[in-house]
Amino acid sequence: ALERTLSIIKPDAVAKNVIGQIYTRFENAGLQVIAAKMKQLTREEAEGFYAVHKERPFFNALVEFMISGPVMIQALEGENAIATNRDLMGATNPKDAAAGTIRADFADSIDANAVHGSDAAETAKVEIAYFFSDAEICSR
Ligand code: CMP
Repeated sequence: ALERTLSIIKPDAVAKNVIGQIYTRFENAGLQVIAAKMKQLTREEAEGFYAVHKERPFFNALVEFMISGPVMIQALEGENAIATNRDLMGATNPKDAAAGTIRADFADSIDANAVHGSDAAETAKVEIAYFFSDAEICSR
């Protein structure tokens, strides 16, 4: 089915100057960028985005990392966009990520893991709305 997913290129990958290389992977997999913004997240924005993880032991480190530099946020659209993006990203921990995935190629650790992608249709909807108004989405 035609789906949308929320993708974030995290501070580590932005600092490595690989936004374009990651966008090329989206495009080559048939995903279209339908909204995008570069942003320095505030602590409140990062805590709100990851609210589902707030009881997890890694929550504080995750928030600190996500506000350590600018991120590139995009909504992607395409056939099976959620699973397609997750396949492109690879496993959360780059040590477990398959060869050729974004995390295998660009991530350094489970915290500095280059990208975020929505895990299901319902979270994709919530996550896209967290960062983009309807007017900011340019679906073709
Ligand atoms: P992300 O997909 O952005 O969602 C939550 C993030 O928490 C995850 O990527 C990882 O970068 C980070 N994280 C750190 N430790 C863990 C862990 N043990 N399990 C899952 N996510 C973790």
